[in-house]
Amino acid sequence: MKNLKIKTFSEYQKQYEFSVSNPELFWDGVASTFMWKKKWENTLTWNFEEPRVSWFEGATLNITENIFERNLATKKNDLALIWEANEPLAANRTYTYEELYHAVNQCANGLKSLGVTKGDRVCIYLPMVPELTIAVLACARIGAIHSVVFAGFSATSLADRIIDADARLVITSDGLNRGAKQMSLKDVVDEAVAHTACIQNVLVLKVTDTNCSMTETRDIWWHELIPSQDIICPATEMESEDSLFILYTSGSTGKPKGVVHTCGGYMVYTAYTFMNVYQYEEGDIHWCTADIGWITGHSYIVYGPLLCGATTVMFEGIPTYPNAGRFWEIVEKYKVTQFLTAPTAIRSLMAFGEEPVQKYDLSTLKIIGTVGEPINEEAWHWYQNNVGKGTCPVVDNWWQTETGGIMISGIGGISPQKPTFAGYPLPGIQPVLLNQDGEEILENEQEGYLCMKAPWPSIIRTTYGNHARCKEAYFSNFEGYYFTGDGAKRDENGMYRIIGRIDDVINVSGHRFGTAEIENAINQNELIIESAVVGYPHPIKGQSIYAFVVCDHTLSDLDDARKDILNTVTNEIGKIALPEKIQFVSGLPKTRSGKIMRRILRKVAEGDLDNLGDVSTLLDPSVVDEIVKNRI
Ligand code: WT7
Repeated sequence: MKNLKIKTFSEYQKQYEFSVSNPELFWDGVASTFMWKKKWENTLTWNFEEPRVSWFEGATLNITENIFERNLATKKNDLALIWEANEPLAANRTYTYEELYHAVNQCANGLKSLGVTKGDRVCIYLPMVPELTIAVLACARIGAIHSVVFAGFSATSLADRIIDADARLVITSDGLNRGAKQMSLKDVVDEAVAHTACIQNVLVLKVTDTNCSMTETRDIWWHELIPSQDIICPATEMESEDSLFILYTSGSTGKPKGVVHTCGGYMVYTAYTFMNVYQYEEGDIHWCTADIGWITGHSYIVYGPLLCGATTVMFEGIPTYPNAGRFWEIVEKYKVTQFLTAPTAIRSLMAFGEEPVQKYDLSTLKIIGTVGEPINEEAWHWYQNNVGKGTCPVVDNWWQTETGGIMISGIGGISPQKPTFAGYPLPGIQPVLLNQDGEEILENEQEGYLCMKAPWPSIIRTTYGNHARCKEAYFSNFEGYYFTGDGAKRDENGMYRIIGRIDDVINVSGHRFGTAEIENAINQNELIIESAVVGYPHPIKGQSIYAFVVCDHTLSDLDDARKDILNTVTNEIGKIALPEKIQFVSGLPKTRSGKIMRRILRKVAEGDLDNLGDVSTLLDPSVVDEIVKNRI
């Protein structure tokens, strides 16, 4: 794959041209650098109507053979994984490629002993410890489909995901360490599993020193099952289009959807994008601060770097514990060469000033990345000047859970960079801007709906258990295109700037929620008749959640009611989805046909009160006056 590494901007342009005029030949070339058990017959067949996309049909492989067997000959004793504990003084843990290989095989054999076989779904609900990476790869080794659930989601959310995926096993831990807090995870799993019928076993890793209860015959300790297993486990042969994993993400309607990614295409695309965007070289130490519970962690902590034979860093804690210098202390400690984080983290650290960054030696850094939400100009400059010392290129990676890998982004040090612009599409990616009527906007310096007109290897294949939903959510808004849900702008040179979601999706600190999802959670509270949720700009989180709620009687203690609603959201989704503001209203602004006019609520939440627009079509325009008057 090394000869596919782009080294100059004109090489990028050449590769790009070739990739869109001859996509099959281009991806044939990338794919042929991997280890396949059987070669493909068709590189690509697709239509966006059903939709159906198939890459490397007829080929078989195992993605973990491409991480291990393919790299072991030259990398056996190189570090694959460095794990930094929550407590700075606690011992770190490292795994060479060979050690990780054996650990993954032991876990895979343990899963097999529990009856897990190819195609079974395994739910992984673990903190950021090495066993999370090991469990993910162990599933892939035996062809089980992993569904990682971020360990901040509530029992209800976890149960929803377990049931939707019809998982047979949950892998979890007794608890987790996050900053100054220890939290139980096993209790959450117990509660979730009590609401499901499909779970046969719970595999429990000991992470904290707290006690947890074990249910006999169902629950098994990791340390009693895994370390005694054989260190060799043959890799299961997978079809290129067999599912590799499910990852749940929010959309504008209903409950979160299980985005399905498949083995061959996902492997090829994550490795290719990691190598190019981060200009990977032998000996590089890559640190992505995301949690493996999100797609960024899947693609750029686990699969992308390990497929390329890189060293990947995993961090258990948070950026501000025990102080705001923690990230930079870790960069210095491990001589990190590529660093990737989210704008929300950058903005929260900016608030602590430059001193915590200046204290550490960051001279090993070569490329720094930002991902997950639009980055504002101030944060971009702060990041480049203080972390990148004015010389490291900043790559702004735009992509989505559904795209599997980075789509529009700078290529570190090679393509031009412009603050707040993600930049040019990577080879193989064909973005278009569409207008209201679904027509392609051909000129530059225009804004439109960001869509893709052709498939790339790691495009979403389906939403688990409900293909119609996949079509409806991504392939129906504009016929013949994949619709991203984002609005974007193209500058005079064809560089893209992502403006943000134009659907009912809110991005809080890089975490995606549907307004309907949060409203449904709030409505579970018995005080509530109705609610409407909107996002509004927040200086650190990017966006925050504003909830307008209608209660069924006059409440005497609004503070109590507010707390009660927050509890409900915590129980239904998790603390990450809490509204920052809750306003009690006597009614919501609705049209005569009963549709909530969110546009007005959004303006109220933003404080843009002079531009509420036309309210004359409302059933009862007077509710708007009341809402404006009592705005928080
Ligand atoms: C949504 C996808 C990218 C993986 C992590 C988030 C927003 C993502 C950027 C960026 C502006 C961005 C978009 C997108 N987003 N990256 N670099 N600049 N916006 O994945 O949870 O599936 O969210 O995040 O709105 O649609 P996700």
